[in-house]
Amino acid sequence: MFASPLIAAPMAGGTTTSAFALAARGAGALDFAAGGYKTAEALAEHLAPLRSEGTDFGVNLFVPRQGPLAPADAAALLRYRRELMPLAARLGASVPGLPFSPSDPRTQDFWAEKLQLLLTDPVPLVSFTFGLAPAAVVASLHRAGSRVLASVTSVAEALAAAETGVDALVVQHANAGGHSAAFLPPGHGAGESSVVQLVAAVRAAVALPLVAAGGIGDPTTAKAALAAGAVAVQLGTALLRTDESGAKALHKDALADPRYSATAITRAFTGKRARALVNDFVRDHGATAPDIYPEVHFLTGPLRAAAAAAGDAEALNLWAGTAWQKSQAGPVGAVIEGFLREL
Ligand SMILES: Cc1cc2nc3c(=O)[nH]c(=O)nc-3n(C[C@H](O)[C@H](O)[C@H](O)COP(=O)(O)O)c2cc1C
Repeated sequence: MFASPLIAAPMAGGTTTSAFALAARGAGALDFAAGGYKTAEALAEHLAPLRSEGTDFGVNLFVPRQGPLAPADAAALLRYRRELMPLAARLGASVPGLPFSPSDPRTQDFWAEKLQLLLTDPVPLVSFTFGLAPAAVVASLHRAGSRVLASVTSVAEALAAAETGVDALVVQHANAGGHSAAFLPPGHGAGESSVVQLVAAVRAAVALPLVAAGGIGDPTTAKAALAAGAVAVQLGTALLRTDESGAKALHKDALADPRYSATAITRAFTGKRARALVNDFVRDHGATAPDIYPEVHFLTGPLRAAAAAAGDAEALNLWAGTAWQKSQAGPVGAVIEGFLREL
């Protein structure tokens, strides 16, 4: 199904640069461009250097929320905005006004425009996260010549994804760094304790090829995920600190800083559950942030930008999977080669 058993995860928000993807590819990994947050024009620019006749590579898109916010959500957003004001004042950042216009194209993450781009200028692989692309979208991508992957976090999600006609599944365990791909309410997962167990459970339920993701920090775990039935493993956090990773220096440094001793799943930064190093922002807002994505992401954006500019890692989203302590600095190719040697 894939050219390599190792996939360099798509990491939106600046981590996956074209140079990062190309360097991972050069070392023998399958690379995925990160389409999330980008306009169609920015995605086309990101893809231009990656397009190469006969080379397998992928593009990842966020599936946007359907429908408008509930009135209770608008009130919850206002409350969270008020809660963030003191920190914003301290950082010298302004919190955006509310409500956000439902016609703001960022709310749909430029979905229609980016799909159009992928239909008119197809790529070998397209993966989706945060939801299922409708079966009609999957079919149109197939007609354009692409293979399609859906990201899932439970057996129930895997069964739902298979119904849409996708060719493979990215099976993401909750140990993963960054946002959860989950699209069914929490509780649908059977509570598997590791990616190896989750892959085995999905393997028993669905016949599609599986990519294992989440907390894979060393070749031993990668091999166990392959042995449990995955055809490839996807690395995120393990590549975050590398030279070509576009992650902020503050983020890279925090991953190697012994003062950070735990990760947690939090909605504090974006409203969607995501795993990050525990810092002041997670401690102060983790319990109160509302379940409203992407609006919370827009609310906290200027605070995070100000924190980054001030060198303040305590207000930054330090995405990290549970295997963060194993992530290494140096060329991304060296990390990829280290894994591939043992797979
Ligand atoms: C900084 C960061 C950004 C991420 N961005 C995306 C993304 O844009 N799309 C996506 O499908 N997954 C994204 N992920 C999740 C990865 O695809 C993958 O599931 C996860 O990194 C695997 O767990 P690990 O971090 O423990 O290796 C991101 C992960 C991190 C750490």
